[in-house]
Amino acid sequence: MTVHQNFIAGEWVASGETADNVNPSNLGDVIGEYAQADRAQAEQAIAAARAAFTGWSASTLQERADVLDRVGTEILDRREELGRLLAREEGKILAEATLEAGRAGQVFKYFAGESLRIAGQHMQSVRPGIDVEVTREPLGVIGVITPWNFPIAIPAWKIAPALAYGNCVVFKPASLVPGSAWALADILSRAGLPAGVFNLVMGSGAAVGQAILASPEVDGVTFTGSVETGDAVLKTVAGRHGKVQLEMGGKNPLVVLDDADLEVAAACAVNGAYFSTGQRCTASSRLIVAGGIHDAFVDEMTARVSALRVGDALDPETEMGPVVDAAQLDQDLSYIDVGSGEGATLACGGQRLNREHDGFYLAPALFTGTTNDMRINREEVFGPVATVIRASDYDHALDLANDTDFGLSAGICTGSLKHATHFKKNVKAGMVMVNLPTAGVDYHVPFGGRKGSSYGAREQGAYAAEFFTIVKTAYTAAL
Ligand code: UN1
Repeated sequence: MTVHQNFIAGEWVASGETADNVNPSNLGDVIGEYAQADRAQAEQAIAAARAAFTGWSASTLQERADVLDRVGTEILDRREELGRLLAREEGKILAEATLEAGRAGQVFKYFAGESLRIAGQHMQSVRPGIDVEVTREPLGVIGVITPWNFPIAIPAWKIAPALAYGNCVVFKPASLVPGSAWALADILSRAGLPAGVFNLVMGSGAAVGQAILASPEVDGVTFTGSVETGDAVLKTVAGRHGKVQLEMGGKNPLVVLDDADLEVAAACAVNGAYFSTGQRCTASSRLIVAGGIHDAFVDEMTARVSALRVGDALDPETEMGPVVDAAQLDQDLSYIDVGSGEGATLACGGQRLNREHDGFYLAPALFTGTTNDMRINREEVFGPVATVIRASDYDHALDLANDTDFGLSAGICTGSLKHATHFKKNVKAGMVMVNLPTAGVDYHVPFGGRKGSSYGAREQGAYAAEFFTIVKTAYTAAL
């Protein structure tokens, strides 16, 4: 089997170690072998990015727009094939995986346009005869550290703005999903970037991740992943005065009021809680349901969740793929035990399933009769596990929605303009959805949360400029 190599300083380079990429729907299916860089190789990539920065930061906007547009076009042309690879290595179903590949292509197209719109301000001074200009400059070398649950979209929405605003990139993908990352790197390697502007460094967090966090040559780190790792990123990078952008966990509430459309609410909850096997930081893990609709909602959900077809991610009939790996499956199963131990009722699911091939299959689980102080309502499970919390009325539901350490996304299903308007204003979350699932976002508007969910400037849309650029204020006195 050919080894997929790392891309450093414009060259494909071998590493001493390699790792297999295994299909979670079929553990006998090895997708490929991927190089594992050590710390020295990660440092070479950082040095290459640093060396390339002077040139790339002075590149023309046309050059950047053309590169990003070419990357976006190739991803969109190959979205079926890239979606298939993504579904095979991560386990989300083919339809979702293909949409994700398409989203990655759109992100590159969007930032191709954004690179032409880097704007500043021209202002008058408070003093006579002086002009003031505020301009944006590239930040420098960016460490991009991405999770396994969106193997191509999250790398795209970090790498595309980094390049658009004139930065150089050292990209460390999650070890579980090197296939999509390598395919993206291959596309970038042929897009016309000067050597060193973009580097792929597959390898462990202990070797590659630590090298990126510790290096004074890395000006900023953009990270999506767990709260625990995010904390470590923040401490190390901010400790050396580097810039940090973190997207971490969620415990996202979906409020269902008595005047909700039951069909819409159940569809939002099933999508939000179980699509992508619940492995989204935007997943609707807490379903907060008003007393008048509670029993009907629970019946409808139990029927829909029990009927979800769990199977091989590549089978077009499958509605929910496997859990990503053995460690995540253990975590999901242990939270199912915790919920039962805390006195929640397991309305359906929660057991391992056997399918044609050996894989990490889990029946989607719904807990009812839960209270917001239970661990299953406070800690992120990151699997196909949702809970129902009964609320007495709208005010109670809002209090429950806000009673969490997280604040990424929050949803409400209601026919009431008054309650929807109040919720949009008063829920403490970065993103609010009305009669929509908490997950599944557009690619051209800001993404991010509050409290324990996020740190630093927003990702995506025009707001991406905040993280990927640094502002300069220039004063000119005419002689
Ligand atoms: C989405 O819900 O469309 O890791 C995106 C995550 C998020 C991305 C969610 N950063 O789940």
